[in-house]
Amino acid sequence: MTLRVPMDEALHWSQVPEGVGEGVWIQVIQKMEEVYNDLLQYEVALEEKNAALEASQRFIESVLGSMSDILLVSGRDGAIEDVNHSLVKLTGRSEQELRGQPVAELFADAASREQATRILVRPGGDPVHDLELQLRAADGSAIPVSLNGTPRHGPTGRVLGMVVTGRPVGELRRAYDGLREAHEKLKRAQQQLVHAEKMASLGRLVAGVAHELNNPISFVLGNVYSLQRYTARLARYLGAVHRGAPPAELAALRAELRIDRVIEDLQPLIEGTIEGAERTRAIVDGLKRFSAVDREERRRFDLTAVVRSAIHWVAKAAKTNFEVELHLPPALELEGSPGQLQQVLMNLVQNAHDATAAQPAPRLEVAARVEGGAAVLEFHDNGPGIEPENLPRLFDPFFTTKPVGKGTGLGLAISYGIVERHGGALSAANHPRGGALFTLRLPLAAAPGAATDGGAGG
Ligand SMILES: Nc1ncnc2c1ncn2[C@@H]1O[C@H](COP(=O)(O)OP(=O)(O)OP(=O)(O)O)[C@@H](O)[C@H]1O
Ligand SMILES: [Mg+2]
Repeated sequence: MTLRVPMDEALHWSQVPEGVGEGVWIQVIQKMEEVYNDLLQYEVALEEKNAALEASQRFIESVLGSMSDILLVSGRDGAIEDVNHSLVKLTGRSEQELRGQPVAELFADAASREQATRILVRPGGDPVHDLELQLRAADGSAIPVSLNGTPRHGPTGRVLGMVVTGRPVGELRRAYDGLREAHEKLKRAQQQLVHAEKMASLGRLVAGVAHELNNPISFVLGNVYSLQRYTARLARYLGAVHRGAPPAELAALRAELRIDRVIEDLQPLIEGTIEGAERTRAIVDGLKRFSAVDREERRRFDLTAVVRSAIHWVAKAAKTNFEVELHLPPALELEGSPGQLQQVLMNLVQNAHDATAAQPAPRLEVAARVEGGAAVLEFHDNGPGIEPENLPRLFDPFFTTKPVGKGTGLGLAISYGIVERHGGALSAANHPRGGALFTLRLPLAAAPGAATDGGAGG
């Protein structure tokens, strides 16, 4: 700072005219004193301002120095104007080395350098958010950093360059990768578990089927062996008849071969064989419902007929004193697949039958009503009900509490899907008066007309 003395007041020895009186000198000295005082005041003010400036400089430096994020200021030409301590530490290059270098020089690979030039140092550019680039570290390795940039404006609003901050994302990235890997592993483990569970239940299914088939097949086989023996005896006897053997010989042979017994036995043997074969077929039919997805088309049908048919089939196979009480409206017209819904209903009735098997008077009450454009069917049995801890798992595939050969645990899981595809809902609960309560809700067909056919195929 220079001190300016107003020219009109400045005096110089050479300017003092000769023969000037004492008064003038006094004036001059007074003026000089004034000027000197001014000078002193200016100097004090200057020192104060200097101290304030230094303090604020130190403050800014300490802030920048202790910032863990990296910071750089670039000029319009894309050259580095200033950097903070974190960037110096990360790059291993001093402030002096970095200043004046193109910003792109900081990065490890060509792609990052290209992006830095294109996105980070555009004068007048927009702010940049979370731009991930590879910074070149002190040891030459690449450090992924996430950068944010803001344009820096001068007093006239002109863009002077950019202020860029950022932080290494390596740790975060590694943590994220670790998390993703763990998640993948977990998913694989879960798939394996589901698969293992399926295989186990397939094993149970096969064991059950084998067990169930064993009985009818062995008595069909026993009957066929008997028939084979009988055929031999009959052939021998008929041989004698055709040969024209005398009556006495025929009578003796008839007694010896017990021909009358054989003839009496034939009918029950054949009936038993047919029954055995039919049971085998029934078991195979039952199996089919687990494997085949019913591709039956949607059509209009009366649900009450399907309910009756389902109860009929289960009761027929039950051979117990299982009693079903029905409260059905005359018709419930629905649109969908009667075959699939029969499967749902049969499983509900069969489950009630199984659950009440130990009761002295096993009973199921089926009540249907129309509510808000839907048919609502309730199945309430007098069995022991459902264990509360089993309630959330009831509709899981393969969840069963039945012994091997009795249930696969697929009934309710398959039913749930079928009911959902029909736009309905199936739920399970315990009835306040005891026993299980299953509620089936299915939307009625759009335009109600007269119920047409029964629609329940076998
Ligand atoms: N009415 C009921 N009372 C008590 N428990 C029931 C009743 N209905 C179903 N459950 C329970 O729900 C389980 C699952 O039923 P779901 O119909 O899915 O399979 P399952 O009957 O065991 O075998 P599947 O139907 O494949 O032959 C049954 O094992 C039983 O524990
Ligand atoms: Mg079942």
